[in-house]
Amino acid sequence: MKVLIVGSGGREHALAWKISQSTKVKKLYCAPGNGGIGEIAENVSLKDSDIQGLRDFASKEKIDLTVVGPEVPLTHGIVDEFEKKGLKIFGPHKSAAQLEGSKVFAKNFMQRHKIPTPGFKIADSPQQGYDILNSGEFSFPLVVKADGLASGKGALVCRNLNKAQEAVHSLMEERKFGKAGKRVVIEEFLRGKEASFMVISDGVKVIPMVTTMDHKAAFDGDKGPNTGGMGAISPSPFIDQEMYNQIIKSIIFPTVTRMLEEGRKYKGVLYAGLMLTEEGPKVLEYNCRFGDPETQPQVLRMESDLVDVLAGAVDEKVLESEMEWNHQASGCVVVASGGYPIKYEKGKEIKGLDKVTQDSGVVVFHAGTRKEGQKLLTDGGRVLGVGASEKSLKETMNKIYRALSHIDFEAMHFRRDIGAAREEG
Ligand code: AMP
Ligand code: GLY
Repeated sequence: MKVLIVGSGGREHALAWKISQSTKVKKLYCAPGNGGIGEIAENVSLKDSDIQGLRDFASKEKIDLTVVGPEVPLTHGIVDEFEKKGLKIFGPHKSAAQLEGSKVFAKNFMQRHKIPTPGFKIADSPQQGYDILNSGEFSFPLVVKADGLASGKGALVCRNLNKAQEAVHSLMEERKFGKAGKRVVIEEFLRGKEASFMVISDGVKVIPMVTTMDHKAAFDGDKGPNTGGMGAISPSPFIDQEMYNQIIKSIIFPTVTRMLEEGRKYKGVLYAGLMLTEEGPKVLEYNCRFGDPETQPQVLRMESDLVDVLAGAVDEKVLESEMEWNHQASGCVVVASGGYPIKYEKGKEIKGLDKVTQDSGVVVFHAGTRKEGQKLLTDGGRVLGVGASEKSLKETMNKIYRALSHIDFEAMHFRRDIGAAREEG
């Protein structure tokens, strides 16, 4: 069969890496792809936001299955458009992707259905925002979140009233993230451990993927600004069997069931970004797609054919293709351009990858890279993800960090404490 992956990041390289191993796949395309994906798939120069272009390409090339990485085309209705042409595509419809596309929708949905989430208020205007802050209903710190998509940067943790007012001002009045800040959610701040919990849903039934833990802050010790994710490990060290059952029962099942009842059948990956608190797991956000970088450690543990699972979800028979996983640990450390996520340069030559790939078991996923002749250049904030899966988390991380010592480009930066999480702290 012919498969098209939409996207260009480390997540898409991980999907391409896994999908290319399926004996069923005869031809793999990725639009637009990147320097590393081009080694295992054919890169197609179409932007991931070009829904018409992608649909026409899939029709012309008779693509049997399209798999969408990023949230933007999903929230803009790529699945609906493909289906109008009878094209098979994995992901939620536009109406279901609202769970990620609008935080206001997601919060109201959770409130309606008693799905655990931090307490919140919605502001439709800056004045309403300031009034909520002044009312004293929320203590500090609190979180101010843009309603719409803001590339993971729209949640601002505010330590005091002044900072919170600044956040409302920058999101709603300066429109730092454009119309994403037309409305904001003002939310109670939760303490606990974060976890990324993903399931593949066919609209009615789900199969859980292995648990993961992302590391969102730019610097060691969870310091610095939030990024798209600087590294991830699997399994999450903080989800035991009891917590796992609670997540499924109080969050995953009600989400999929209530979405169906509301006429928004949820097909695709449902990603719940959780805070594991003393009162149990609570949803900080939903994503309507695979995580990045969480997909990287997940595919390293996946033993089943991913194509069967994704096609099973589209055909609404997901349980016929149960997923199997190894019982090892896995991890992925993101190598970023210096200055990411704020300001960084591109076009730096990446050296040393040939030495890394000689070490068996290490997989380098490309994110922001491009080929120029024989050279591999940086082309984004997150540049590479170095992954491995070994018996223990310690062995996994040692292997990854050994591999990282060979890689070099000007001003490169990575966290040295991925997977070092302990119960305390
Ligand atoms: P979100 O985009 O809603 O996932 O928020 C991005 C990040 O901000 C999360 O991964 C958390 O690290 C942090 N965050 C968001 N909401 C809260 C909250 N209510 N309490 C504590 N931290 C939060
Ligand atoms: N790593 C966080 C995300 O994919 O949203």
